[in-house]
Amino acid sequence: MSSSPAQRFKNPRARYNFLGRTCSITGVGSYVPAKVLTNADLEKMVDTSDEWITSRTGIKERRIAAENEFTSDLGANAALRAMKMAGVSAEQIDLIIVATITPDMPFPSTACLIQRKIRAKRAAAFDLEAACSGFIYGLEIAQQFIMSRTYDTVLVIGAEKLSSITNWKDRNTCVLFGDGAGAAILQNRPESHGLLTAVMGANGDEADLLFMPGGGSRCPASAKSVDSRMHYLQMNGKETFKYAVQAMQTAAQESLRRCELDISQIQCIIPHQANRRIIDAVADRLGASPDQLFVNLEKYGNTSAASVAIALDEAVRSGRIQRGDLILLMVFGAGLTWGAAVIEW
Ligand code: UT7
Repeated sequence: MSSSPAQRFKNPRARYNFLGRTCSITGVGSYVPAKVLTNADLEKMVDTSDEWITSRTGIKERRIAAENEFTSDLGANAALRAMKMAGVSAEQIDLIIVATITPDMPFPSTACLIQRKIRAKRAAAFDLEAACSGFIYGLEIAQQFIMSRTYDTVLVIGAEKLSSITNWKDRNTCVLFGDGAGAAILQNRPESHGLLTAVMGANGDEADLLFMPGGGSRCPASAKSVDSRMHYLQMNGKETFKYAVQAMQTAAQESLRRCELDISQIQCIIPHQANRRIIDAVADRLGASPDQLFVNLEKYGNTSAASVAIALDEAVRSGRIQRGDLILLMVFGAGLTWGAAVIEW
């Protein structure tokens, strides 16, 4: 018996065929800076050890951008690689969305700076700020523009130079973060599937768990703000950890429910790469097996908005993801924010 239009609208896979539009990811790319900072290097900077960092987080090393290398440089390099995979020229791009908490400067947006660098003259451009959840927020926004027939080709970038807001004297945070960028080209491709659904969530009541107090309208840069170390990120790690597990589990389950999928049908799960223990706890709660997971945090640490974008690119280029595979992305970050997405590759 054929399903009614109302029923078909409930299932994203059917919905997109019904509308005659899809939001396919036709190219991915990533870029990380050359400089490697190992746990052994950090042992010389703060009172920590490779053993502590590895056992508590899973991180072994992270990349650090050069002094004259900015978020827009990292993002532009990742974008060019995604455009090459998609076979898309700069002139074809309708919209650039950059997810970041470390823009080159408060304004103009890093998206505009990347537009200039890649010569995407036709594109509209803006930044979005959803911390580590930004890439999935970006995918969902891109999808809305594509499905509504506003745009055909959208470039979504997650890019961060977290080393610029890291307090290198605070062992609680400086061992966790790294720099890098990932990008995706999203296009209407009626013959394929692509992004099936994206879930976004936020809870501003928990804004104080992870934040950077200085540099905004509440506490503009001053000698006092610099002396008080207000231009560095601050985090309540333990509380953030607990919330991350719960929020990613809920978002992942909601995204699977919308697609009428069971976790066992997912070929590749790409979680936010913040902490191996968070990833294992979420996988356990979801009933996922370890071989469904894609994890690369040992090489890059937590790169915030770039995290799942870099991992998606690596999973595709290494052959871990094959055409037709179902992929689950799940993220969590400051705000608090969270999200999940299901992609049919
Ligand atoms: O991207 C978005 C969100 N961010 C996250 O998802 C991060 C979430 N949180 C975490 O990943 C973990 O909470 C951390 C890795 C940050 C910390 O792990 P933890 O198991 O929660 O450790 P803790 O904060 O409870 O600290 C345990 C001990 C403390 O010592 P005392 O008070 O027990 O004597 C810390 O001072 O470990 C100490 N410690 C360290 N020791 C060596 C904290 N950082 C370090 C360090 N090296 N780098």
